[in-house]
Amino acid sequence: MEKLFIFDTTLRDGEQVPGCQLNTIEKIEVAKALEELGVDVIEAGFPVSSPGDFNSVVEISKAVTWPTICALTRAVEKDIEVAAEALKYAKNKRMHTGIGTSDLHIKYKFNSTQEEILNRAVAAVSYAKKFVEDVEFYAEDAGRTNNEYLAKVVQAVVNAGATVINIPDTTGYCLPTEYGEKIKYIVEHVDMKNAILSTHCHQDLGMATANSIMGVINGARQVEVTINGIGERAGNTSLEEVVMAIKSHKELNIETNINTQKIYPLSKMVSNLMNMPIQPNKAIVGRNAFAHSSGIHQDGVLKNLSTYEIIDPKEVGIKDNSIVLTARSGRHALKSRLNLLDIKVDADELSQIYTKFLELADRKKDINDEDLLILCGRELNST
Ligand code: KIV
Ligand code: ZN
Repeated sequence: MEKLFIFDTTLRDGEQVPGCQLNTIEKIEVAKALEELGVDVIEAGFPVSSPGDFNSVVEISKAVTWPTICALTRAVEKDIEVAAEALKYAKNKRMHTGIGTSDLHIKYKFNSTQEEILNRAVAAVSYAKKFVEDVEFYAEDAGRTNNEYLAKVVQAVVNAGATVINIPDTTGYCLPTEYGEKIKYIVEHVDMKNAILSTHCHQDLGMATANSIMGVINGARQVEVTINGIGERAGNTSLEEVVMAIKSHKELNIETNINTQKIYPLSKMVSNLMNMPIQPNKAIVGRNAFAHSSGIHQDGVLKNLSTYEIIDPKEVGIKDNSIVLTARSGRHALKSRLNLLDIKVDADELSQIYTKFLELADRKKDINDEDLLILCGRELNST
């Protein structure tokens, strides 16, 4: 098995969601939970951007023991100096510096040329190396950067000592095949020395997880992710989706350090702290991710879970799958729920209760245990 490094940027890229900012105490709480989850790298902030971000990087560095703490910078000396200062208490530290490499960024953001951008990239990495050993370089908008030029920049920053090369699909533009080919192109055209490639995908077209997985299949060995896929606009790649996709597909021969049973509690924590509800049908952590409501599916699941479940919910820290009783549920599902409530019925009784159940379910969206007890003529406190 080859190791895939998990770089969590919930506290930097994720926290850029408008109106969802966390204070330092809350960030420390999330960082400690990320450490327990087993992430390899925590991107703790962008220190030059504000005193609050600076302070969070300092405090997270003190609070967390084994994951690498990463601070973001632009390819600007002042940013790098401030990041180095913020990281001074980190036991394992990384600086994440970079610059836009697409024609659009070069022209409109920097009014510059490819040659000048390449020189600035190399200068930033060389300067960051004076402060820390572990320097990650990001080629912003790599998703829309010409592959030949991208490979040239990557080779130059690897030669300057970059340890990780991040290929962000900043605008979430790439198709999975396109992003996979981009990673493959770099693998085939750059002498990476000991550096590894990282994915950093955005969700604008709903492709972030697929693109990250295609990146891994083509040679990336780090993925940049956030809990619940939070992030500005449509968000970032979600940690839980990538980790569970990798875990579910053993044939990829890739493993992560994530203790998957901690995923659901942390997802809840981030959602609560950021006051950002999770859509019910969100993969892995949504309320309905393991809920079966149609009669055909319920019948299958009651016979054997593997008929309609690819992941045991306990693996991600959810206690149980749920059979949601609705007007589409069959007798099998109703009987199973009654058994759990310790209500034993024969075939005739079940038929009578099922008729009443269907009448009620047509009026009410879903039927809970209290409804069932009433239907069966039981006292509410009898179980
Ligand atoms: O999306 C992006 O390009 C980024 C970089 C700053 C790494 O978040
Ligand atoms: Zn990003």
